[in-house]
Amino acid sequence: MEDYAGMNDIGAVVEADRAHVWHHLSQHKQYETVDPRVIVEGKGMRVWDAKGKEHIDAVSGGVWTVNVGYGRERIANAVRDQLIKLNYFAGSAGSIPGAMFSKRLIEKMPGLTRVYYNNSGSEANEKVYKMVRQIAHRHHGGKKWKILYRDRDYHGTTIAALASAGQDQRAMQYGPFPDGFVRVPHCLEYRKQWDVENYGQRAADAIEEVILREGPDTVGCLILEPVTAGGGVIVPPQGYWDRVQEICKKYNILLAIDEVVCGVGRTGTWFGYQHYGIKPDFVTMAKGVASGYAAISCTVTTEAVFEMFKDDPTDPLSYFRDISTFGGCTSGPAAALENMKIIEEEGLLQNTLDMGDYCLGNLQALMDKHKIIGDVRGLGLMMAVELVKDRKTKAPATEETAAIFEETRRQGIVVAPPPYGLLRRPVARQADLAEELRPAHRQPFAHPALELVQSPVPHRLVMQGAQGHEGAQVVV
Ligand SMILES: Cc1ncc(COP(=O)(O)O)c(C=O)c1O
Repeated sequence: MEDYAGMNDIGAVVEADRAHVWHHLSQHKQYETVDPRVIVEGKGMRVWDAKGKEHIDAVSGGVWTVNVGYGRERIANAVRDQLIKLNYFAGSAGSIPGAMFSKRLIEKMPGLTRVYYNNSGSEANEKVYKMVRQIAHRHHGGKKWKILYRDRDYHGTTIAALASAGQDQRAMQYGPFPDGFVRVPHCLEYRKQWDVENYGQRAADAIEEVILREGPDTVGCLILEPVTAGGGVIVPPQGYWDRVQEICKKYNILLAIDEVVCGVGRTGTWFGYQHYGIKPDFVTMAKGVASGYAAISCTVTTEAVFEMFKDDPTDPLSYFRDISTFGGCTSGPAAALENMKIIEEEGLLQNTLDMGDYCLGNLQALMDKHKIIGDVRGLGLMMAVELVKDRKTKAPATEETAAIFEETRRQGIVVAPPPYGLLRRPVARQADLAEELRPAHRQPFAHPALELVQSPVPHRLVMQGAQGHEGAQVVV
């Protein structure tokens, strides 16, 4: 590779980074005394940093993204070929990869028909909010403009997306936020809010209570993650989704499912909502759509919603007056098409179910050994172990969580720092996983709790020390 601007001089790279790059989600004071981490290469489930240290990437690129793993030449080739043919034209026109990916995607999403292309998960959700607001203006006489979101869910980083953040720590100091975003309670039974038998139904009933309090004619949309990801891997209890659907239908509320994390295989089905027989009005996706080989996000909706934006061509305000410059890049759908083929050809959905069951079983077995584990939960290759000081009080084991994080980092396992230190495993093949888990691959940990990341089960993970939430969590 050409030594462009000295990039083969790693010392110069680290210094340039330290001097000029503002890292995401980072307190930079630390880089006055330690070098910022610069990742230079990836293969399969491993990455190497600028100092040559090998890391097991237990976070799929840090944020649940590289679902099919690093170094997939066929995706790179598909992107390269596409870039040479046509790198870009605005999304007001179509493109070959855009059309073909939308067709393949829609085949996997019965009931949905239209794909709107964007750049990021936040943007995909913003499009939902804009569509809901425009529908309110044009079809409900200005009513049904409110958007309900759930405690502990996350929908992105822009100001409107943060208005719908169920994680307070993410939104603090960035307000004021736009009006009309209303929170409903989370459904995590481990942190019970109601002492009832049918918890799923009760947690969904709580959404109805909010609708009745706000006035059903003011509420246009409910947005939910199928399984809450960053907020602690919350798999909704039985009965929850059926009741949610019923409520949305009863009050004519559009249901938006945020599949930015769960989408494209993470939970062992193409989409997380498909575990529950849900019929959404909107589905948003980003991260794993092209496994990070190109930027792409999608807002997918029904023909009924789409029709509401073309019913009156004489009205100059009737159509969806939105544009996203890079939503027209052809590399995104080109990469997404190849990514989808890999998942199909290698049977990665079934693998995710198999590996997920295997990991979850092993994590549950660890509960007998470690009192610090308060709860184990997950679906597919998305799991959490919640660490507590005491199983009765469920007080968060914050220090242990931090210790595990530090030790994991020292041992070359990539996890994100607390409070959002989640392990997001790639949708790995069994062979990769077995290799990763070779015994004695790593040194023993000093603290008994740290055995969690050392024991011979595939869960090298660490934690969410949940600021703003109860409970520290180890997430696979
Ligand atoms: C569930 C969920 N929705 C939306 C987003 C925002 O996606 P992006 O960072 O691509 O804007 C995230 C990001 O972590 C997410 O976890």
